[in-house]
Amino acid sequence: SPLHPFLAALPKCEHHMHIEGSLEPSLLFELAAKNGIALPVDKDAAFASVESLHARYQTFQNLDDFLGYYYIAMSALVDAADFEALAYAYFAKAASQNVRHAEVFFDPQAHTSRGVSFSTMVAGLKAAQRRAQAEFNMSTELIMCLLKHLPLPDAMKTFEEAKGAGYFADGTFAAIGMDSSEKPFPPKMWEELFVAAKEAGIRRTTHAGEEGPADYVVQALDVLDAQRIDHGLRSVEDEALLKRLVEQKTLLTLCPLSNVKLQCIGSVAEFPLRKLLDAGVRFSINSDDPAYFGGYILENYYALQDNFGLTIREWEGIAQGSVLGSWCSEERKQELL
Ligand code: HPA
Ligand code: ZN
Repeated sequence: SPLHPFLAALPKCEHHMHIEGSLEPSLLFELAAKNGIALPVDKDAAFASVESLHARYQTFQNLDDFLGYYYIAMSALVDAADFEALAYAYFAKAASQNVRHAEVFFDPQAHTSRGVSFSTMVAGLKAAQRRAQAEFNMSTELIMCLLKHLPLPDAMKTFEEAKGAGYFADGTFAAIGMDSSEKPFPPKMWEELFVAAKEAGIRRTTHAGEEGPADYVVQALDVLDAQRIDHGLRSVEDEALLKRLVEQKTLLTLCPLSNVKLQCIGSVAEFPLRKLLDAGVRFSINSDDPAYFGGYILENYYALQDNFGLTIREWEGIAQGSVLGSWCSEERKQELL
């Protein structure tokens, strides 16, 4: 498309990417060797080499098929320098695609369960954030995600630990979110956590309506009072919900290449972009897990452009909505607009 150079130059915000999902096979093998972590090549031959793992990432049956690889790969992250290397590699790549503001998810329970402390993760991620600010003039935030496949008390314990350490009060974490396996774990299960976060004045988002139905998005709004919805793809199946998202200006953080790779939709052409644009829903376009899904943010923008041929004015509207939906200071928003 003749708009590719325009899209590359367009200042972008990214709100939906899991930092562990930017662990490229090459860095995974490097960190596993350094840390003496054995990958389970006896159980899955895909772990034999960078090339075979990369080949395996070309096709996933569904969300859980992907998550199996995602949780094994991140076990190579051990010390603060590993988290710094991971996050810095993402920030550098995002900066090269003109991302000016990035809000990054991470999954502390997947690390504390292996003996990696909160302070180790935070030290590494913060070091990378400082470098992104200094070298790329990029503002960044961390969103602490809790895992839906673990019990509520585990999420509560992790939330209390982060809150007790002052990570929300001091701005280290901008918000909480929820991710991992979706369908068996409807949003209403997490009411206690979201009530506690709201009472503490902490921002709240959750994955919903990726594989799960539109009703999970309704639950996220009704029961969790989520201020943002990650994916929310299946909201298009509920007209009343769409109207509500428009009225409330709720940001959907959409990830088209992820949806294709995890077989939520058959192809980018099936992505409900026109429906969301025409309804007036506020959304941003994001990479989700770029090391697994075949592209960073710009490849997601290109894929939409190649399938839907948006106008410059439409892209400028999307960019503006993604600034307005960002969790940064009002001052920073003015700079980004
Ligand atoms: N969905 C749910 N959980 C996740 C994802 C996703 O796409 N990526 C990492 N954790
Ligand atoms: Zn996600």
